[in-house]
Amino acid sequence: MKPQRLGINVDHVATLRNARGEHYPDPVAAALLAIEAGADGITIHLREDRRHIRDADVGAMKAAISMPLNFEMAATEEMVAIALATRPHACCIVPEKRTEVTTEGGLDVAGHAEALRPMVARLAAAGIRISMFVDPDPLQLAASAAIGAHIVELHTGSYAHGAAGEFERLVAAAKLTSGLGLECHAGHGLTFDNVTPVAAIPEVVELNIGHFLIGQAVFDGLPAVVRRMKALMQAARG
Ligand code: PXP
Repeated sequence: MKPQRLGINVDHVATLRNARGEHYPDPVAAALLAIEAGADGITIHLREDRRHIRDADVGAMKAAISMPLNFEMAATEEMVAIALATRPHACCIVPEKRTEVTTEGGLDVAGHAEALRPMVARLAAAGIRISMFVDPDPLQLAASAAIGAHIVELHTGSYAHGAAGEFERLVAAAKLTSGLGLECHAGHGLTFDNVTPVAAIPEVVELNIGHFLIGQAVFDGLPAVVRRMKALMQAARG
């Protein structure tokens, strides 16, 4: 089975920092610690309202880390300009609603293909890998491939909430990705308790995990939770 990477999303280190308006805890320091503990990449989401990661964090993160930076962004001109200036390893295009507490569903790539296609082309021309954060829906996978995305990240939020049939949908969607020439990632809502089945899906070569691990780090420390998650992923892949 192909090896699987663990991307650590450090957004909620910034949430904690911003709660008091201080300069600590520092998401860059968290990223460096996560990498030292075995993280294969770092993910950050610069939201339109800057509720966690802020503009200055983006360049600081890119400059500080030795592992790939995955920049999650809404499909807006402002974010495209920041991505082109930063040149992260990858951009993951996500839907964004101001009122949501987290990214609630996948991007409707099929419904916005004409607007997304030129954006993907501009980012890809800058050498950035482009990922679409989608529900495990064959229509969205086909649309992602058609507009030139390199990767789909399957939204595991409904699976994590125990929705019936959702794991089977993830497995079926992952199977389709190879035929479409797409690399397959997954993420959202993953924990020590629910990661194993997703980590065992052969096509899934990267998991991006944030909220649970940053929360659990309060009890166990960040290096320990990164190491435990990686061990669970490796055990799942035999
Ligand atoms: N992948 C994407 C595209 C996301 O938007 C998020 C949440 O920011 C995650 C993964 C990580 O989700 P969680 O914080 O629930 O682990």
